[in-house]
Order: sequence, then C-alpha cells, then structure tokens
Amino acid sequence: MPEAGNKKQVFSGVQPTGKLHLGNYIGALSQWVENQTRYDNIFCIVDLHALTIAEAVRPALLREKTREVAALYLACGVDPEKSIVFVQSHIPAHAELTWILNCVTTVGWIERMTQYKSKAAQVESVSTGLLDYPVLQAADILLYRTDLVPVGEDQKQHIELTADIAHRFNRLFGEAFVIPQPLLRAEGARIMGFDDPMTKMSKSRGEIQKGHAIGLLDSADTIREVILGAVTDSSMETHFDHASPAVRNLLTIYEVLSGRTRLEIEAHFEGKGYNYLKREVADVVINRLAPIRNRYLEINRDRAYLECILQRGAERAWTIAESTLRHVQELVGIGPWASRKTDCPPGNIGR
Ligand code: TYM
Repeated sequence: MPEAGNKKQVFSGVQPTGKLHLGNYIGALSQWVENQTRYDNIFCIVDLHALTIAEAVRPALLREKTREVAALYLACGVDPEKSIVFVQSHIPAHAELTWILNCVTTVGWIERMTQYKSKAAQVESVSTGLLDYPVLQAADILLYRTDLVPVGEDQKQHIELTADIAHRFNRLFGEAFVIPQPLLRAEGARIMGFDDPMTKMSKSRGEIQKGHAIGLLDSADTIREVILGAVTDSSMETHFDHASPAVRNLLTIYEVLSGRTRLEIEAHFEGKGYNYLKREVADVVINRLAPIRNRYLEINRDRAYLECILQRGAERAWTIAESTLRHVQELVGIGPWASRKTDCPPGNIGR
C-alpha cells in the first residue's frame, strides 16, 4: 500500500440534486472549511448518486447542478490549493470498486438502511441503484483511504456500513482499506425544517414546500421571510434544554453561525420573545450566506476557471483511486495482466 501522509484523510461529498440548503452548509460544508488546514481533504460532487431515481433525471440540468455544487464548494471556502475537488463520474474507479464491494456486501445490510427505506417509500419503482446507493458511497470513501467523513447525522449509518464492508473485505482478501469514521458536529448535525421541526431540512422538500428550507443562494429578503415565518410555540422558552424542538432548531442555527457560547446566547435571548430571536437568527444567516452568494456569482462568471479546478482535481484524485483499485484487484485476483509485466511478443494474439 502507498504510504499515508501525517495528516488524517478526509473525504466527503454532496449530491447535485435540488437546492443546497442551510442544513447542508451547517452539517457538512461549514465543517469541511473549518477543518481544511487540519486534514488532507477530498471533496467530491457525487453525480453518479444523482442517477438512482431515473425518472427524475434531467441530463442537462444534472450537468448544470454538478457545476453549481462545485462552484458552491469554492464559494463556501473550499480552497483548491488545500483540497482536491472533483466530480465522481470523472473517475471510473468509483463504479468499478462498487462492483467489487457489492460482492462482499449482504443484501440484508443495505436493506436495513433507513435512507433507502424512506426513499423507496416515495417512488413508484425502486431501482437497484437506489438500493445499492450506500455501496457506491462506500467505494467513494474507501478509494481514498479515508479516516474521517464529515457529514450530517443522516449519513452516519452509511459510514458505519462502509466500515462494515471494509472490515469484511479486509478479512476475506487481506488489508486493503482504512476503516473510516463519521465526523459529526456536536451541534447542528441535523437541522430541521422551518415549517416542521420534526422533519429534517431536505433538498427535495425544500424544492416543493415554501418555508421549509433556506437555499444557500437565497436573497436576504427570502431568508428573512422564511425565518420570520418559522413555526414556534406559545411559550417564551429560549433555554437550550427546555426549548421546544422548533425553537431549539433556531437556537442551534444561531449557536453554530454566531460562534457564541450557550450561556451567552441564553442570556442574550432571555425574556425577549420569539420575534426578536427570529430577527437575530435571520441576521446571522444573512451575514454568513451573503458573501457566499457573491463569491458564487463571481466564480460563475468564469466557467473555464471552474473547469480547470475540476480537471486538476480529477487528475489528483485519479492517482490515489487508481493505486487503491489496483491493490484491490490484485487481492481479489482480477485486473489487467499488464500489471504483472509479462513480455508479449507482437503477432501472437489469436494463435
Ligand atoms: P446529501 O447531498 O444528501 O447531503 C450533503 C451533506 O449535507 C448533510 N445534510 C444535513 N446536515 C444537517 N442537517 C440537515 N438537515 C442535512 N441535510 C443534509 C448530509 O448529511 C451530507 O453530509 N449520500 C450523501 C452523498 C455522498 C457522500 C459520499 C457523503 C455520496 N458519497 C461519501 C460523504 C462521503 C448525500 O446524499 O448527501
């Protein structure tokens, strides 16, 4: 196996479907950026994952969304000098490793995934790809010898499955994979919808339901409108431990984005009422998202710049992915003979 560097390896990704929202930012992207100098980072736009519900795929839109997500990574502060940024489908090794991992993954394991169960309940016909989604995710992670996967809470089960798959492969064929761990925020790993504090903020629901989510590119007016319209309750409770789920969600967003301590926050909001709380939450969200939106617009003016970043990212990622895949192929007994350096005189083929 190639030598690992001193820093831990981080890998994470976002699906280029729907509108990226505040939950994606708080649960995933903001922690990528906060930890960027501490780790070696690879951030991927997982477009193969966006194919699992074929009826919903719009090819031109998928390409556009893939670019949009890449531009948003950079706009949120992912620095291509410090992190590798690339598109999943640009590296065929992801699909190839998925096949090999499929063969060490039991159907029972993937049928237990809660995200699969809830997505399968929403579509008329369930594709094999939808069921296999977490194995492709495992391939993403394992190809890059990932130690840590910074994600929101909804992805924890997929990372645990990845660890199970890696263990099983290593046991059956020999040491190939590092066992990854999820990296979750202590607070903000699960941001809830503003319209319903019992439902996780989601891209699909955000597309159809006004007042559910805040998009990373929404205007200040829209952000204010959504937050001022957020569901609350009839008490005046603004202490983290006693607040209702809806108010706690607002407090958590404020906590992550303001960087203030809980004690400071509780003292600040004590007895001020929910309207005040909402206005303050809207302000911290706007202050955080406005520069992201501006940077995004700037990046989008120069399409060639983004394409170069993605091409260079794919080249760097490919070097790592290829060496892992070759090693795995060797271990399971497949792959090109050429890797064994047989001398082949020309003209012998077919005799
Ligand atoms: P996706 O595109 O659904 O979400 C991207 C990231 O955002 C997090 N997230 C949230 N965090 C807090 N509160 C929320 N309401 C919220 N909603 C979403 C997600 O946990 C995720 O971190 N399967 C992944 C994509 C993926 C991936 C990977 C991730 C594919 N391969 C390898 C990590 C490593 C997904 O669909 O994320």
